[in-house]
Amino acid sequence: MYKGFLHTHYLVVTLFLLIYVVKTILLISNRSDLLKTFSKKVKVIEMVVSTLFLVTGIYLMTKVPFGGHYDHLLWIKLVMVVASIPLAVIGFKRENKILAALSLLLITGSFGLAEVFHKRKAVAAPQTATAGMDGRALYEANCKLCHGSDGKAMLAGALDLSVTGLDENGIKDVILNGRNLMVKVNVSELEAQAISVYVLNELKGK
Ligand code: HEC
Repeated sequence: MYKGFLHTHYLVVTLFLLIYVVKTILLISNRSDLLKTFSKKVKVIEMVVSTLFLVTGIYLMTKVPFGGHYDHLLWIKLVMVVASIPLAVIGFKRENKILAALSLLLITGSFGLAEVFHKRKAVAAPQTATAGMDGRALYEANCKLCHGSDGKAMLAGALDLSVTGLDENGIKDVILNGRNLMVKVNVSELEAQAISVYVLNELKGK
C-alpha cells in the first residue's frame, strides 16, 4: 500500500514537473500563444496529475515518521510545496516570469530535499543491520514449537503472538531473557530483532 502510493507519487511528481518546466520555458521565452495552446492541451492531464500529487503527498505525509532527526527537512519541503502553488497560479495568470520561475525552483528544490531525506533516512535506519536475516526461518526454527507457524498455537502455556501488545523491544526482551514459563532462546541480539520484526509484521493482527 505504502509502496504503491510512493511509486504513484514519484510518477505524478515527475509528470507535474515536466509540464511545469515546459510551461515556464514557454513563458520565459515569450511564447505566449504556444503557452496558451499547450496549457489548454494538458489541462485535463494537469488536473488529474495535481490531484494525485496532493492526495498521494498527503497520504505519505501521514505515514512518514515525523519525530526523527530530519524533521526539519520534511517541514521545509512541505512549506516549499505549499508556497509554490499560489506563486505558480499568480505567476502564470499574470504572465509574471519571476514568480513562475521562483515557483518552479521551489517545487524542484523540494523534490531534491525529499531525495536527501530518503537517503539520510536509509543510512540512519537501524533495521538495515538485520537486512538479509530471514526472520521467518529464524522464527520457524526457534519459536514454532510452542507458538505455531501462525503464532496462535499456545502450547506449553505459550501466549498468542497474533494479539501481543509488546513492541519490537519488548518481544526482543522476551526472546533474549525469557519470561516466566518461556525460557530464553539462544539467538543473537540481531537475530532476536529480525524475529521480532517478523512477528510484528507477519503474525500480529493476522
Ligand atoms: C518452549 C516453548 C516456547 C518457545 C520455544 C518460545 N516461546 Fe514464547 N512463550 C512461551 C510461553 C510459555 C510464554 C508465556 C510466558 C509468560 O507467561 O510470561 C511465551 C510468551 C512469549 C511472548 C510474550 C507475548 C505477550 O504478548 O506478552 C512473546 C513475544 C514470545 N513468547 C515470543 C517468542 C518467540 C519470538 C520465540 C522464538 C524466538 C518464542 N517465543 C519461543 C513459550 C515458548
